Amino acid sequence: MSVYLDHAATTPMVDDAISAMTAQMRQLGNPSSLHTPGRASRKVIEQARESLAKEIGCVASEIIFTASGTEANNIALKGLYWKGKGVGRNVIVISAIEHHAILDPAQWLSDHEGAEIISIGVTSAGVLDLTQLSELLADRADEIAVISIMHSNNETGVLQPIDHVVALASAHGIAVHSDAVQSFKKVPLSFSELGLTALSLSAHKIGGPLGIGVLVLKRGLEIPALLHGGGQEREIRSGTLNAPAIVGASAAASASYLSDHVRALRNELVEGIVRVIPDAYINGANAEKLLPGIVNATFPGTESDTLLLLLDAQAIAASTGSACSAGVQRPSHVLLAMGHNDKSARSSLRFSLGATTTLADINQVIEALPSVIERARAANLR
Ligand SMILES: Cc1ncc(COP(=O)(O)O)c(C=O)c1O
Repeated sequence: MSVYLDHAATTPMVDDAISAMTAQMRQLGNPSSLHTPGRASRKVIEQARESLAKEIGCVASEIIFTASGTEANNIALKGLYWKGKGVGRNVIVISAIEHHAILDPAQWLSDHEGAEIISIGVTSAGVLDLTQLSELLADRADEIAVISIMHSNNETGVLQPIDHVVALASAHGIAVHSDAVQSFKKVPLSFSELGLTALSLSAHKIGGPLGIGVLVLKRGLEIPALLHGGGQEREIRSGTLNAPAIVGASAAASASYLSDHVRALRNELVEGIVRVIPDAYINGANAEKLLPGIVNATFPGTESDTLLLLLDAQAIAASTGSACSAGVQRPSHVLLAMGHNDKSARSSLRFSLGATTTLADINQVIEALPSVIERARAANLR
């Protein structure tokens, strides 16, 4: 039996999302058209927006549909930066463990748009260093255009203290964005309770379709657009709205929540790993709060790429970390920020569990690990 433990990369669509989407694919009508089919399509989208807003804890009009979490992050970071730059603020504050969908637009803004990027470090448990952030704010608050800190990390599953970040930033009136792609529907999350300026989400991480993301942007706030055209989505994200994907995203959000069951399986996996490979260690294990479905383990003396292939040969799918940088031979910037050296960062694997994960899957991994690790160690010595 094959085992899929890469749900943080993408997870199977839930049935409710498939049926809602399939039904909508048969409907004709551009939601911007004024005729009856167009209005019908618009109605379905607005219902989905209302329903999603309840799940996110925001107002429906705060939702801007995008094509991915990556796009939501780009619009938020660039838009909030340009808005700040307009009033003389050119500093962007991020964390050292952001996904490339924040790291790379930040780098681009530095290379092309005069941004100064300040990266806040993390503890060895992978949690944002709030002291460093508050010292920075004490010093340079009036230069900061935007602070963007992820809600939880995609490689380690460590939750970040976003409420503290917002409290620190709001004392200085600084906009705060959070990439909550991995947190949505996995842990409690409310845009309004967090007091954020902007939040990014992605449907394919929660059992919805690929090709649809959400940017939540505070009511009344206008930021410069990346895409110009028909003026959809508050003129911030032009383009004909993807009604089937939007309906699918909303159905997935209503249907899915990673339960305690997944957390229990995760704990089984952690216990199993350290039992069969005594010198393995779990990254982020000391963090106070973790996502229910992610385990990041270091297996000393191995290479993660070899591990991945050996596991794949046993029909087990795992990941070396961020799927977006997989294939590129680089140690994880997240693990390096947590104090790993190149070598140990390259000896680590991420297993991510989802709604379809079973105890049999976990047992199969634990059973396969000793020989996989032994062979990976032997290959490393050659
Ligand atoms: C934390 C985080 N942000 C952003 C993204 C990108 O989302 P999408 O695949 O929808 O572009 C991912 C996907 O892996 C992610 O894990």
